Amino acid sequence: MRYMTTAEIREKYLQFFESKGCKRLPSSSLIPDDPSLLLTSAGMVQFKPYFLHVKEFDPQYVGATTVQKCVRTNDIENIGVTGRHLSFFEMLGNFSFGKYFKHEMCAWAYEFSTDPEYLGLPAERLYFTVFEDDDETIEIWKSLGVPEDHISRLGEDDNFWRAGPTGPCGPCSEIYFDQGPEVGCGSPDCKPGCDCDRFLEYWNCVFTQFDGQEDGSLAPLITKNIDTGMGLERIAAIMQGVTNNYDTDVLRSLVAVGEGLANVVYKTDPGVDMSLRIMADHARSVTFMIADGILPSNEGRGYVLRRLLRRAVMKGHLLGVEGPFINQYVDQIVQLMGHVYPEIVENRETIRVIIESEEKRFGATMRQGQAFLEEALSGLDSDTLNGQVAFKLHDTYGFPIEVTEEICAERGISVDMEGFAAAMAQQKERARAATKDDAEAAWSTYGSIHADLLKELGATQFVGYDTLHCSARVLALVCAGQRVDSLADGQDGEIILDVTPFYAEMGGEVGDTGTISCPGGFAQVIDTKAPEKGLSAHRVHVVEGSIAVGDEVSASVDGQRRALITRNHTATHVLHAALRKVLGDHVAQKGSYVGPDRLRFDFTHFAAVSRDELVAVEQMANEFIAQAVDTTIYETSLEQARNSGVTALFGEKYGDTVRVVEAGEFSRELCGGCHVANTSEIGIIKIVSEGSAAAGVRRIEAVTSLGAYEYLAKLESVLLSAASALHCSVDAVADRALASVKQVKELQKAAKEAKANASGDALGALVQDARLAKGGYPVVIANIGSADSGAMRNAWDVIKSRMSAPGAAVLIAVNNDKPIMLAAGTDEAVAAGFNAGAVIKAIAPCVAGGGGGKPSMAQAGGKDVSGIEAALDAAAQMLL
Ligand code: SER
Repeated sequence: MRYMTTAEIREKYLQFFESKGCKRLPSSSLIPDDPSLLLTSAGMVQFKPYFLHVKEFDPQYVGATTVQKCVRTNDIENIGVTGRHLSFFEMLGNFSFGKYFKHEMCAWAYEFSTDPEYLGLPAERLYFTVFEDDDETIEIWKSLGVPEDHISRLGEDDNFWRAGPTGPCGPCSEIYFDQGPEVGCGSPDCKPGCDCDRFLEYWNCVFTQFDGQEDGSLAPLITKNIDTGMGLERIAAIMQGVTNNYDTDVLRSLVAVGEGLANVVYKTDPGVDMSLRIMADHARSVTFMIADGILPSNEGRGYVLRRLLRRAVMKGHLLGVEGPFINQYVDQIVQLMGHVYPEIVENRETIRVIIESEEKRFGATMRQGQAFLEEALSGLDSDTLNGQVAFKLHDTYGFPIEVTEEICAERGISVDMEGFAAAMAQQKERARAATKDDAEAAWSTYGSIHADLLKELGATQFVGYDTLHCSARVLALVCAGQRVDSLADGQDGEIILDVTPFYAEMGGEVGDTGTISCPGGFAQVIDTKAPEKGLSAHRVHVVEGSIAVGDEVSASVDGQRRALITRNHTATHVLHAALRKVLGDHVAQKGSYVGPDRLRFDFTHFAAVSRDELVAVEQMANEFIAQAVDTTIYETSLEQARNSGVTALFGEKYGDTVRVVEAGEFSRELCGGCHVANTSEIGIIKIVSEGSAAAGVRRIEAVTSLGAYEYLAKLESVLLSAASALHCSVDAVADRALASVKQVKELQKAAKEAKANASGDALGALVQDARLAKGGYPVVIANIGSADSGAMRNAWDVIKSRMSAPGAAVLIAVNNDKPIMLAAGTDEAVAAGFNAGAVIKAIAPCVAGGGGGKPSMAQAGGKDVSGIEAALDAAAQMLL
């Protein structure tokens, strides 16, 4: 047995199974093409359709082999605590869809494990488990030379594998490596399956024979299949002679990133070690999740991402790491794993920006949350933290609940999880009540009716790609959530037809409007939605007569509105393509709205789109549509479409047959929407706004054809008004406006100077009139009119600078109808007996005021302007 790097094992495995006739395929995205799963958690996920034979695998091969990136967080509390648990891991797999089965699989697994060309593990340290009654597999292992006492039977919990509650599954046989008695529990009963670390399961071979049904029963699959998974980190630990995943080459170098950040040494303190492991593991999950298009959010996989990131950030913070730091892991991860997973290299910048902005956002509240928690803990008179407090930490400060639990657990305190769950449920209820608008509520309450309608009537046939008008039959009517036989004049309801030209809102494109009529009635279609996939519900208002189930009707889409929608839809594709060409391939659609009036497009990008970039995108899009390119729309297999580089949306579920919308070489996208036949129909594309939609997501809004015309016409009229106001031609508006602004500024400056000079002159006159004080220094005693206290201090500065000898002043002014006064003297005047504080004290009562200050400067305010003269007199009496 010799030391092997993670990279070497990965490559040897894939080569080995290629040599057995398997096709090497890339890892699939962490966002599974499977609505029953939140995240890709096993190698078999991308192969489900082949196990079920809804798709056939390439017949040239006996099966497939992959290294699959996986995320599992079901046992997040164990991650970092043990050496075995990871939230992100790589799974080496090989898969057969009816071609090879147990005999070949067991023989190959044994060969790869023991042959010195490959792993070369000592046979005497290998143990095998099989599902309880699987005698056949026991015989196979024995025939390969495995002694009987190295084979044991385990029950359903250990040796029957399922990806989820339903779907392909089957009994399995696992291979364990004996790490030696010294790492075990020492119990005489210790054997594979024991909770201790002695026997490490590294390879799971599933004999995928069944399709798990909703009711729990097992239906046999058409063929007998193979799904195997070998944890790459685990086998790396074995091959590198260590008993902990985090001591293997890749993970150890990520632990080292944390050592550097926190300036600590791994393996000196168990608590610190755990934090370093959590940071290394979670940073890897976060990096790969963002690379696959997942963004932090408060639900679904976005929340899994957010929780992992926040838990890592808190661990780092508690180790004393300051500021955003996860990106240091990203750099190392890209270096270590980028050659196998190019998506982390391609999306590196996006990953960095999203992580940093999420870290900054959380960092701001994290400290406050910690203070809040500290306070709650110090006031605790039991050993349980109130669930409401835990909820507030979650809701206001963004603490994932397990983080709160961990911090509490360190102090021997538990968290009232029931109270937390109750507070959470209450909040969800409040949010639901608050956001449901009436119309939405009305549609959604019909939910179960629509499911029944779909079952009973089947899918609505959509003919609206080719025609806007057709004859149809009314299959069902719904009014106020109930099925009815007819809808009469004045009533609102829904019409379900057998065939329809109305597009039901989907993929961002709004639903069609129009009319449905028959000899006995006429209804306006206000909107069309698909409350169940495949079922079109026409929301109508009956204007005349009535419409009944069974009626033959004529269904007619508002063609003008539809034309505007199709222009905006094709324009959205053109903009998407132009954005990718100008900004880079990291641009991925995150959402869209395509209506008759405008379009909105949300996409991943890490900075504001600059003015120059926007101009470049808009110009490229317009130059392209002006080439009047015919669009081509065709159906093909998903695989074929992907292979030919068609843009598909991350996280979007596609069937096996997909619809490709092509506008020349410029844009090719999977899409089910309505499009123009030739790009010239779009007329013109005008971007009207660009802004932020969420962290790492930008939003542009644009208008086309008539919408663009209206927008430009409005701009023109604004421009013409400006030109007329500025008395110049349109071309000269900008120069004239700039010149005018400059002129206004100059005039304002000149006016200010003139005023200052004028007041300076007035003050000069006061200096001329200065009188001689008893102490022999000049003093100005005057009412300077209207001024605030700042202006009054300035006045003193001017007077001081213009006096022929160092002197003093007593100034009174009116500010907002109230008298204010200032007395001030130079050092020389003060030395000669001037005392500003005393002067103010003496004269302020004349204006019903008070105040004081130092001998060199004092101020006061009063209430009575009629006392100003008396105050001046009093000052003269005192000083002259
Ligand atoms: N699907 C099985 C597992 O995940 C074997 O690949 O363990």
